[in-house]
Amino acid sequence: MLSVDEAITTRRSVRAFKSDSVEPEMLSHILEVASRAPSGTNMQPWHVHVFTGDALKSLCDSVLDAFWNLPEEHESDRLHYLEKSRDPYLARRRKVGWDLYGLLGIGKGEREKTRKFHAQNYIFFGAPVGLIFTIDRDMGWMSWLDYGMFIQNICLAARGQGLHTCPQAAWANYHDVVERHLNLPEIQLVHCGMSLGYEDTDALVNTLTTDREPVEDFVTFHGG
Ligand SMILES: Cc1cc2nc3c(=O)[nH]c(=O)nc-3n(C[C@H](O)[C@H](O)[C@H](O)COP(=O)(O)O)c2cc1C
Repeated sequence: MLSVDEAITTRRSVRAFKSDSVEPEMLSHILEVASRAPSGTNMQPWHVHVFTGDALKSLCDSVLDAFWNLPEEHESDRLHYLEKSRDPYLARRRKVGWDLYGLLGIGKGEREKTRKFHAQNYIFFGAPVGLIFTIDRDMGWMSWLDYGMFIQNICLAARGQGLHTCPQAAWANYHDVVERHLNLPEIQLVHCGMSLGYEDTDALVNTLTTDREPVEDFVTFHGG
C-alpha cells in the first residue's frame, strides 16, 4: 500500500499509457473510494461517464472529427482559467508548456506539431479508460470545489492501484459534441475528462517533471 504522502507525490499527469486494460472491479473500487470525498452539505454533485473499448473509440472519433474539421467552432468557448493571463500564473503556464513541448522536440510556433500532440487529449493519450465528468449547470462554486476534491480522490485512489491519470480540461472545448454524444439532459454539462490506465514508462513525454512553489511562497503563517 502507498502511504497518503506517496500517493500524492507519485501522482503526475501521465500522457502516454499502455494498452493494458483495467479490470472493471478495480475501476469500481477507485470510484467508490473517490466518492468518500467531502462535499458541502453532502450534495455529491458529481456524475462520471466511464468509457472503455468500443464506447471509448466512438466518443474519441466524434470529438476528433470536430477537432480536425471544425476547429474554429471549438476555440475554448468557456473561461477555463483567467480572463486576462498575468504573472505569476502566466509564467508558470509558459514554463510547463515549454518543458512539455521541449521534451517532445516541438519548437515555438510549430502549430501543426502542437495540434497533433494536443489531439492526443482526444484519444485519452492511449489510455484504456476515459472518464467524462458532468455537473448540473446551475451548481454554485462550492459544489465545484466538491467536484475538485472528488476528481483528486480518483487520481489518488488510482495511484493506490498502481494506475496513473491525467485530468483534462481539453474535453471542455468539445463539451457540446460530448453532450450530444451522451444525449445528456439540458441541465447537465460536461466540464472535463480524465485519462486513466497504466503508465507507458518508455514514453519520453512521461519524464516531464513539474515545479511547485516553495511553501513559504504560498503560505502566510499567523501566530507562533
Ligand atoms: C483541471 C485540470 C485540467 C487539466 N487539463 C489538461 C489537459 O487538458 N491536457 C493535459 O495534457 N493536461 C491537463 N492537465 C494537467 C496539468 O497540466 C498538470 O496537472 C500540471 O501541469 C501539473 O503537472 P502534474 O499533474 O504532472 O503534477 C490538467 C490538470 C487539471 C488539474
